[in-house]
Amino acid sequence: MPLLEIKDITYRVKEKEIFSGLSLAVESGRVHAILGKNGTGKSTLAYLVMGCESYIPTSGEILFEGKVINELKVHERAKLGIALAWQEPVRFEGISVRDYLTLKSKEIDPSIYLEMVGLYPELYLDRMLDKSLSGGERKRIELASIVALEPKLAVLDEPDSGIDMLSIQDIMNVIDALKKNGTSVLLISHREEIAKVADKASLICNGKIMCSGNPKNVAQYYKSRKCEVCIGEECVYV
Ligand SMILES: Nc1ncnc2c1ncn2[C@@H]1O[C@H](COP(=O)(O)OP(=O)(O)OP(=O)(O)O)[C@@H](O)[C@H]1O
Ligand SMILES: [Mg+2]
Repeated sequence: MPLLEIKDITYRVKEKEIFSGLSLAVESGRVHAILGKNGTGKSTLAYLVMGCESYIPTSGEILFEGKVINELKVHERAKLGIALAWQEPVRFEGISVRDYLTLKSKEIDPSIYLEMVGLYPELYLDRMLDKSLSGGERKRIELASIVALEPKLAVLDEPDSGIDMLSIQDIMNVIDALKKNGTSVLLISHREEIAKVADKASLICNGKIMCSGNPKNVAQYYKSRKCEVCIGEECVYV
């Protein structure tokens, strides 16, 4: 049984059909990359899996460990072991980086998680998680916090994007740490290079998964297509 199974979901918002029969499975302990151009619905998929407010499939099912979770709220899904690293992480007032990284347990050493994402603990642990952090710093701290949470499923929405772009090596460090903890990963990106760190990749287009399989083959297919955007009913990859 897959850890996460998305079965034939449609999702419509304001007349726009973002998904029209999307199916996908993430196996336990595996890294599954989702590739797709800007605007193909990758972040929407992340919000649907996490159960963000108003993100309930119009039809179809999302199953986690074999149970339908369509109606569960974010905090209920978090309790089941699902965590989301946002494409654009928010900043919070009143919490330090140290406290954020030790939310799950005060026993852990937060330094190792910061080092993993290329930040010096002595410079960042006592900083506040507010607007004084740059977008790239916040992004790194968000990824570090997901590793520290030790979820069953981590959804990483464009972990390599941002002004201060993370390198593939940075992402590999995070993925390796997640895998060591037994965390499965849904790794979302519009850059084909990212598929290198995955066990499996799927290509999203026109509200569906259009191909799925060996990451190298899927990335090659994605890269070789020249179209820039996904418009209307036409699939840009064919
Ligand atoms: N609330 C909404 N109302 C109308 N359109 C929406 C809404 N939310 C998302 N969309 C549209 O749905 C499509 C998918 O958006 P989404 O953010 O999921 O794309 P994405 O693949 O993550 O893009 P990117 O690569 O730029 O992050 C876009 O065309 C977006 O404009
Ligand atoms: Mg997005």
